[in-house]
Amino acid sequence: MQMNVVDLLQSNKLSQEVQVKGWVRTFRANRFIALNDGSTINNIQCVVDFLATDEDLLRRITTGAAVSIKGILAESQGKGQAVEIQVNSIEVLGDSNPEEYPIQPKKHSFEFLREHAHLRVRTNTFSAVMRVRSMLSFAVHKYFTENGFYNFHAPIVTGSDAEGAGEMFRVTTMPADSPSKNEDGSVDFSQDFFGKETNLTVSGQLEAETYAMALGKVYTFGPTFRAENSNTTRHLAEFWMIEPEVAFMDLNGNMELAEDFIKSVVGYVLENCKDDIEFLDQRLTKEESTKPMIERSEMTLIEKLKFVVDNNFKRVSYSEAIDILRNSKSNKKKKFKFPINEWGADLQSEHERFLVEKHFKCPVILFDYPAKIKAFYMRLNDDGKTVRAMDVLFPGIGEIAGGSQREERLDVLKEKMNALDIDEKELWWYLDLRKFGTAEHSGFGLGFERLVQFTTGMSNIRDVIPFPRTPQNAEF
Ligand code: 4AD
Ligand code: MG
Repeated sequence: MQMNVVDLLQSNKLSQEVQVKGWVRTFRANRFIALNDGSTINNIQCVVDFLATDEDLLRRITTGAAVSIKGILAESQGKGQAVEIQVNSIEVLGDSNPEEYPIQPKKHSFEFLREHAHLRVRTNTFSAVMRVRSMLSFAVHKYFTENGFYNFHAPIVTGSDAEGAGEMFRVTTMPADSPSKNEDGSVDFSQDFFGKETNLTVSGQLEAETYAMALGKVYTFGPTFRAENSNTTRHLAEFWMIEPEVAFMDLNGNMELAEDFIKSVVGYVLENCKDDIEFLDQRLTKEESTKPMIERSEMTLIEKLKFVVDNNFKRVSYSEAIDILRNSKSNKKKKFKFPINEWGADLQSEHERFLVEKHFKCPVILFDYPAKIKAFYMRLNDDGKTVRAMDVLFPGIGEIAGGSQREERLDVLKEKMNALDIDEKELWWYLDLRKFGTAEHSGFGLGFERLVQFTTGMSNIRDVIPFPRTPQNAEF
């Protein structure tokens, strides 16, 4: 009977013949094959007694080769596994030349593996990360579906800049060297495929709002694109974003939803990806042990995940946060690259991480930011200078999610758009929501890769998405 490694390792089919297909991870003493098929971080040990006499076959059992093995499942004699296969026959399905195969059973740097992103998932670390990523994705859909949300597929090609930051990738079918031109020399987008200027979406929020105002509770979970030239360990040009949007919910409800949602999906992975999380926990502990003492994390990965699930996130207003930062030793001793001098300053990741890692030592939700540093759609507070914004800040990550209560008052929204020079004609449909049955509503966006980073303890965002897209890099 053909079985997966994950099932074989837990099976009670002792003394029965089984078949398994997978890739050779290591081959020792011309006798022991560690076989992996991707179904689990664990290999199954296959013991072969006839290889010494079959030189042809012996040469073909190499790291990376695909094989089909038939044999008897037996209690293992060796340490480290409960069962093993006593092999009766091996068929090599696909050879792997050991001279050329880049993924050898030794430690490779993450930089090297990024250059071999098509093969890196055959390593323990990347297979564990990608299984956890998959389970997290399932947990996201499970959470929302069980809580009465409908999944809404936002368009990927859009005509609007939801964040107003102008960091978009243009979508066009016009020839790059000779686009249609107007008389004044500017590009004539009316001749383009969609008859207007279009881009890849930076966020599905504006469209999600339209659906929330009919279906009540919706969420998007899809790819988003940002042409920001940030070469950091937390930015991708193509990333996946989860955006819930809820009618009749204010900012407090939004903060509760974000906290409950994050706890739920992290808890799901802790419960359902034990082997992978344990492996990643040990990996991180090893990595940390190479760092100087003061830079080491006080908690292991599993402790960090449990901490998030078991503790309340701290809610702090932007104004309180500015006071804390301004009066902090780090600020006074000029340790921040961007010193905090006055109310209104935009927070950089160094400030976010100071609040979370040094000051509060727990996840923090900052709210009520200055209107000037946030997007046009956020609801203006009665003070006239702050908006009902929130950012969820996480240790090691900084901002993991950002959202707000939306401006539902037509006149206030129009005023804001005019002040920011946003064309009312382009967002006529968005304004319609405020004309027909407008209501309080809120939502947020959570960067899926930042969530995977936190959950797996990987320090570079390029290592938690199969094929990262970053400035100057779109290989594979
Ligand atoms: O804070 P952002 O820009 O918010 C929005 O786009 C809102 N429209 C969301 C909403 O309210 N529905 O992005 C949301 C999250 C960030 O908190 C961050 O986790 C992630 O998306 N993010 C990125 N992740 C990876 N690479 C990038 N370049 C990212 N930019 C934002
Ligand atoms: Mg943000």
